[in-house]
Amino acid sequence: MSESHERTFVMVKPDAFQRGLVGEIVGRLEDRGLKLVAMKLLTPTQEQGEAHYAEHEDKGFYDDLVEFITSGPAVPMVVEGEDAISVVRDMIGATDPKEAAPGTIRGDYALDIGRNCVHAADSPESAEREIDIYFDEDEKTDYEADFEGWVYE
Ligand code: RTP
Ligand code: MG
Repeated sequence: MSESHERTFVMVKPDAFQRGLVGEIVGRLEDRGLKLVAMKLLTPTQEQGEAHYAEHEDKGFYDDLVEFITSGPAVPMVVEGEDAISVVRDMIGATDPKEAAPGTIRGDYALDIGRNCVHAADSPESAEREIDIYFDEDEKTDYEADFEGWVYE
């Protein structure tokens, strides 16, 4: 990985999976020039769901959030690129889709804060922690992305 690049954790949530939006969401990340490093199709376990959203443990919406995220298939991913964490956060849009700008994933595909299609890590620490919840070390691929010479100067 180039020195200025970082890895982030992204997940297509169960609502977007059921709505057939996996290709759309992954496609937007690919189209932007980001590099896919790891990806799975799984239904998060109770343990994974609780760990994923542990920072919200004391909030009123925590139980519903964990119930939702464990309710069906989801697609966790590791995505790499220059400033990938903030770039992907900007691409997903505001937490409440009603406030998310058109052109963002939530602004284009969602209406309800509890069904906002996609998760993305919000800091380097969160990214590392969340990646470890869903991926073993050997599940992160190491390869040269040939397109990068055309994406970065
Ligand atoms: P995420 O972690 O899923 O990427 O979402 P986020 O960073 O934009 O928002 P965060 O504050 O981390 O909240 C996590 C998820 O909890 C639900 N939520 N509900 N009812 C509420 O007030 C409320 N606030 C947050 C959302 O589904 C949000 O994605
Ligand atoms: Mg969050």
